[in-house]
Amino acid sequence: MSLFGNKESVKGKKSLVIYFSRADENYAVGNIDKGNTEVIAEYIQELTGADLFKVEPLKPYSPSYKVCCDEALEEKRQNARPELKRYLEDISDYEVIYIGSPIYWGTMPMCMFTQLEKLDFTGKMVKVFTTHEGSGLGSVVTDVRKICKGANVLDSLAIQGSLVYRSKGKVEDWIN
Ligand SMILES: Cc1cc2nc3c(=O)[nH]c(=O)nc-3n(C[C@H](O)[C@H](O)[C@H](O)COP(=O)(O)O)c2cc1C
Repeated sequence: MSLFGNKESVKGKKSLVIYFSRADENYAVGNIDKGNTEVIAEYIQELTGADLFKVEPLKPYSPSYKVCCDEALEEKRQNARPELKRYLEDISDYEVIYIGSPIYWGTMPMCMFTQLEKLDFTGKMVKVFTTHEGSGLGSVVTDVRKICKGANVLDSLAIQGSLVYRSKGKVEDWIN
């Protein structure tokens, strides 16, 4: 096992991507219609046939980048578990779970914690990916290992948010 997790083949296995992503005003790129993490989630879907589940907080973050940063920091300080629009209850149909998140203040936005804590990851293969603007994986892999008890956390992928449209090859290499 390496620092970033085991390498084990996930090819041909029934897969699900659980991710959060925010459009609107974003770092370095102005207003975007589709969040960076969603772009990567859709590459994974295209390359593997995975199903997608998007985590959406009941109260969305502000479209303003600065306000969103403040909201997310406050949630983190409070160790909040924001309510979601809908909850994924059962992942028993899937062998491989991709967990995708932007880095918010060094880790995942708290709504990802809300969702992941509800699921039973025993025996699942988990692959973590992040998009970020400098923090890489942040503490996401450590946090995922804590939450997703019993999962086999495989190698992870960090992609710079502003480069997502040039990163399909990287995603493909990572999956294979
Ligand atoms: C609230 C907030 C906090 C962020 N914190 C970090 C951070 O700590 N480190 C980092 O590298 N990027 C940080 N970013 C940049 C995002 O991780 C990056 O733009 C990401 O690609 C956004 O993904 P999305 O478009 O899928 O939401 C932050 C962005 C926001 C909105």
